[in-house]
Amino acid sequence: MSLPNGTLPTEMSYVDLQSPGGAENMMLARGRLPEIAPGDILIRVEAFGVNRPDILQRKGDYPPPPGASPILGLEVAGEVVALGESAAGFSIADKVCALANGGGYAEYCAVPATQALPWPKGYDAVKATALPETFFTVWANVFDMAGLKRGETILVHGGASGIGTTAIQLAKAFGAEVLATAGSAAKCAACETLGAKRAINYREEDFKDVVLEATEGRGVDVILDMVGGRYFGRNLASLAKDGRLSIIGFLGGARVEDANIAPILTKRLKVMGSALRPRTAAEKRAIRDELAANVWPLLDAGEVAPVIDAVVPFKEIVDAHRLMEGGDHIGKIVIRLA
Ligand SMILES: NC(=O)c1ccc[n+]([C@@H]2O[C@H](COP(=O)([O-])OP(=O)(O)OC[C@H]3O[C@@H](n4cnc5c(N)ncnc54)[C@H](OP(=O)(O)O)[C@@H]3O)[C@@H](O)[C@H]2O)c1
Repeated sequence: MSLPNGTLPTEMSYVDLQSPGGAENMMLARGRLPEIAPGDILIRVEAFGVNRPDILQRKGDYPPPPGASPILGLEVAGEVVALGESAAGFSIADKVCALANGGGYAEYCAVPATQALPWPKGYDAVKATALPETFFTVWANVFDMAGLKRGETILVHGGASGIGTTAIQLAKAFGAEVLATAGSAAKCAACETLGAKRAINYREEDFKDVVLEATEGRGVDVILDMVGGRYFGRNLASLAKDGRLSIIGFLGGARVEDANIAPILTKRLKVMGSALRPRTAAEKRAIRDELAANVWPLLDAGEVAPVIDAVVPFKEIVDAHRLMEGGDHIGKIVIRLA
């Protein structure tokens, strides 16, 4: 293992989750630095992102997969301070952001080098850490699995979320027409500023009616959905022939009470879903490589950029989770360490 000249401390601060439950169950604690496995890089974390899956894990509804750190946190940005055996592609002092398998809510985080990317041009740690979780998720689900193509139309539910703000921009950048849903006028305005042709306030309008009207009855080619059960029937009705429904969350419940599934047959639909965290190292590496080739140039050029709602100090992590649970944010919530 390659280390800088004796500069690493033996202990670090991290966010300890005393027991599953409310945000107040998290507090800063001291503990050992993470082990650096072969293929890992150790990052001195300058900023990390807060994601909705962290809330689920904190409540005990999304346990870490076997072997992952019990510490919360799925994305970090900072400086490479040590290299595990056979870790390739990065050097000490490189500035990187990375998809973590866990352990991001800490001063040091070990991640597979194959899940790290350089900061785009002109980025700092706060901007860079707002990228991995949502960009990996959107690439995997919208472009890889659902195969969104230039000239197609996509409906992005939760358009003002971290995931939604990323999906709108990437879909637009790759030549798709975008419709989005969101729960307030301010969120709808943000979706349209980011590139949605039409944002639908689902509290005031039925998204299915608006989608069919906006597409002259044809429907959309792809739907990115985080609401789940409550939307299932209307999602099927909103898809065009050969449409693809990509489900990434269940904010509106995982059970479908009453839905007409006939459109799956009559319109030859594909219904799919995936979770990022349990994917294999090889799958995450493949997504990383696709992002490096296709998306990092757009970030370098400033054509696409993360939307950051709030930057919160490390010691105020409880407030950051409450902010996310309040649901008024647009885009990402990021924690700054230094
Ligand atoms: N499958 C995967 O690999 C994967 C990876 C990352 C995230 N996710 C999922 O993607 C979703 C978005 O994640 P994020 O980190 O971008 O979250 P976020 O920024 O907190 O956004 C969630 C948004 O969903 C909307 N929403 C709709 N129904 C809701 C409900 N019943 N409760 C709470 N919010 C509701 C809210 O906006 P409105 O005000 O517009 O309703 C809220 O702002 C989550 O479901 C998360 O679990 C999945």
